[in-house]
Amino acid sequence: MSRLCALCTLVLSTLHVVFGSSEMELFENFMLQYNKSYNTREEFKYRLGVFLENLKEASRLQSEELGTAQYGVTKFSDLTDEEFSIYHLPTNILPTPPSFKQPEEVLQLPPSCDWRKKDVILKAKQQGNTCHSCWAFAAVANIEAQFAIMGHHVNLSEQQVIDCSLCRDGCLGGYSWDAFITVLNQRGLTSENTYPYTGYKSKCRKGLKPIGWIHDFEMLQKNETAMASHVADRGTLTVTINHAPLKHYQKGIVDTLRSNCDPNYVDHVVLIVGYLGANKLPQWILKNSWGEDWGEKGFFRMFRGKNACGITKYPVTCIVKAHKNQKRKRCV
Ligand SMILES: *[C@@H]1O[C@H](CO)[C@@H](O)[C@H](O)[C@H]1NC(C)=O
Ligand SMILES: *[C@@H]1O[C@H](CO)[C@@H](O)[C@H](O)[C@H]1NC(C)=O
Ligand SMILES: *[C@@H]1O[C@H](CO)[C@@H](O)[C@H](O)[C@H]1NC(C)=O
Repeated sequence: MSRLCALCTLVLSTLHVVFGSSEMELFENFMLQYNKSYNTREEFKYRLGVFLENLKEASRLQSEELGTAQYGVTKFSDLTDEEFSIYHLPTNILPTPPSFKQPEEVLQLPPSCDWRKKDVILKAKQQGNTCHSCWAFAAVANIEAQFAIMGHHVNLSEQQVIDCSLCRDGCLGGYSWDAFITVLNQRGLTSENTYPYTGYKSKCRKGLKPIGWIHDFEMLQKNETAMASHVADRGTLTVTINHAPLKHYQKGIVDTLRSNCDPNYVDHVVLIVGYLGANKLPQWILKNSWGEDWGEKGFFRMFRGKNACGITKYPVTCIVKAHKNQKRKRCV
């Protein structure tokens, strides 16, 4: 309670009567955990109402969950769905994937692969609440991972992708291939440090020395066995999914009803960094761009093997070629 503003404390005592006290307690804990404060009594009451609606939705998802995911309070629990929509792609941009060559080969599938354990995955970054930039974060995370698998650790600029994208205003959204085309056009990306993230589209800065680049990009078969085989053999993979259950996601393996996560309606780009199976529930391990204070330290897991949330719709990866004498890290 100590960090709550005095005004809120005053309001709290009266609201306890209007709302149930266990609900109030949850809201107070939420405010403390995520350092939230509201400036007016009206705002406080409004956010409390939104919070309770979100809890209802989380508990509905929980009651229909087929996997092990837990839904409940998250850092987004005081946002309406409309406010939250900045964290995924707007509905008015339709994907127009370029033509891709598809590798056909599917190798023997190892039982599991988690690239996080190979020291090639950076911590989850934070796209913030001003820019539909998930596509740039997922694509850049893909390049960073592919570079690290070659033994070079880089922390690359999403802002450069957003500013220099020719497809559309980068903060209005995009897909991972838009990012890869931009990176090819720019002949690589400079560091995050040199070209930091602002969350607003600005003029493309030219003449910066690239520290990470790609040779090409490709779309894989829309088949989870082929995707997993690629992850084990070659590395990470961007995918476009329906974001629906993620606003309320805390941890575990998402396996929800199709009606809660239409696989034909994909609106969020994230990165597959591994998969588990064998004796465990078959699952994908994914990296998000909503910060480390969401999900499993910024990562999440989804059921693997039934096109959960449309994960097979656009499995795309960049290709980073090895230099002479460079040896790829192995996942297994
Ligand atoms: C909590 O929020 C207040 C005001 O919004 C800010 O001044 C303060 O730095 C924040 N503290 C932490 C630990 O984030
Ligand atoms: C990437 O670089 C930026 C700028 O130097 C830094 O703030 C950030 O923590 C780095 N991110 C990761 C995941 O290492
Ligand atoms: C996916 O690919 C695997 C291996 O090539 C194959 O056995 C399986 O039938 C394919 N599944 C679908 C749904 O096409």
